[in-house]
Amino acid sequence: MEVIIRPTADAAADLVARIIAKELRGNPNLVLGLATGRTMESVYARLVRLHREEQLDFSLCRTFNLDEYVGLPAGDRYSYRHYMNQHLFMQVNIDLRNTHLPDGMADNLDFECARYEEQISRCGGIDLQLLGIGRAGHLGFNEPLSALRSRTRVKALAPLTRAQNAPYFDSPDQMPLRAITMGVGTILDARRCLLMATDTEKADIVAKAVEGPITAMISATALQLHARCNVVVDELAASDLLGSDYYRWIFENEPEWDAFR
Ligand code: GLP
Repeated sequence: MEVIIRPTADAAADLVARIIAKELRGNPNLVLGLATGRTMESVYARLVRLHREEQLDFSLCRTFNLDEYVGLPAGDRYSYRHYMNQHLFMQVNIDLRNTHLPDGMADNLDFECARYEEQISRCGGIDLQLLGIGRAGHLGFNEPLSALRSRTRVKALAPLTRAQNAPYFDSPDQMPLRAITMGVGTILDARRCLLMATDTEKADIVAKAVEGPITAMISATALQLHARCNVVVDELAASDLLGSDYYRWIFENEPEWDAFR
């Protein structure tokens, strides 16, 4: 795992977008894993700008989102499909047929989960998985006690997640209590993982995820097992990290990051 600390949330989003753009330019057929949440909005805004101003091409790119609420149709304005269409898909030249989210309206949810896994495999697996982190440390909706080898499945949302996401809905009782999410094992199968977190409210959980013991209570700690994972944070989200001077030194001195400084 490598932690990169940027001075501001904008600088963090900028770096994340540039890493994605570099991967996409290197491989136009990239299979990109996507995330939702407020943190990602600034990343998608930058990708849209890179598309408009620097011709970043999404025409051959395939995407798989981490999760979707159970019981919300794609057209519902609170669905993650709607979020993705609004923030990214409708604003770049991606072929919508190449964009995938689990179907939270499927009659047979278990079958839908297995189908989603199969689709990812058929595309050759995920090349780059973008990740946010919930305040309880979840990746996607891998709530506390998610098995570290779990695959795509239905999860009941934990109270903290409900509290964190309820403000997105007009009234809290509109929020679904379950979601389909890629499993921790599904995420760990991605060839590269890129987690972004900003703001003081994430400082404690970022420190636990990066420097704490691996535990199914905090699914983000499983990223410590991943061979190629970058965690991009702003100064505020980095404030509880013990090794921040070391992480800063690596970013400033390792040739791998020359193009990004
Ligand atoms: C939701 C998503 C997660 C995301 C989290 C963080 O719960 N399912 O994938 O990481 O939100 O959201 P935010 O960026 O708004 O803090």
